[in-house]
Amino acid sequence: MNVIAFLSQKGGSGKTTLSVHTAVAAEATGERVCIIDADPQESATAWSSAREAPTPIVATAQAGELEAALKAAKAEGITLAVVDSPPHAAPSAGQIARRADLVLVPVRPSAFDLAAVPAAVEIIKAARVRGAFILSSCPFRAPEIAETRAALEGYGLPVIPGEITDRRAFTRAVTTGSAVTEFEADGKAAEEIRALWAWIKETLERR
Ligand SMILES: Nc1ncnc2c1ncn2[C@@H]1O[C@H](COP(=O)(O)OP(=O)(O)OP(=O)(O)O)[C@@H](O)[C@H]1O
Ligand SMILES: [Mg+2]
Repeated sequence: MNVIAFLSQKGGSGKTTLSVHTAVAAEATGERVCIIDADPQESATAWSSAREAPTPIVATAQAGELEAALKAAKAEGITLAVVDSPPHAAPSAGQIARRADLVLVPVRPSAFDLAAVPAAVEIIKAARVRGAFILSSCPFRAPEIAETRAALEGYGLPVIPGEITDRRAFTRAVTTGSAVTEFEADGKAAEEIRALWAWIKETLERR
């Protein structure tokens, strides 16, 4: 079972959005997926409550319960656990990172998001886990995207090619408990999420 975690200290960077959409995209390629909602705000759990489909399963688990939740997921035959982390410098971030095979840090192209990057990098390095940045909620074709990418490249972690654009489809799908690959399967948002999952999958296979 692979464990990936969306983690950043910055609130609202896109952790929950990317967790749920990636989880559903992974399922479509044959993974058995569970989302571990490690955020006391329980946004992923709320998404799941609005969802008609029974999968992916969403389990709430604060950091102290993470190990047990992952063990249970593995016993159930889950092949991919997606951990949605809380914002802020919670001690749980370190625990989550140590347990992950890959930590993904969503970064919006904004100075506030960039200011939070060193803290995430420190957590990843301390946990000796692989990490990568994902440009999140980017204004369409804005110059800030390339600027942010260039700034991130200085941290010694890969910046995932392509970006996730700020699109209403992401928000609208979440409201109805669905994911962009279901809500608008042929749309650009779905295409971006499938590309993100393809990069993650390939990276997990290349250990
Ligand atoms: N690519 C996107 N396009 C449009 N809206 C987005 C996108 N990504 C995130 N959002 C919106 O931005 C807000 C914050 O996103 P999200 O809840 O995923 O962030 P988060 O990192 O999980 O936040 P928190 O730190 O509070 O848990 C939400 O309202 C979400 O719908
Ligand atoms: Mg969240």
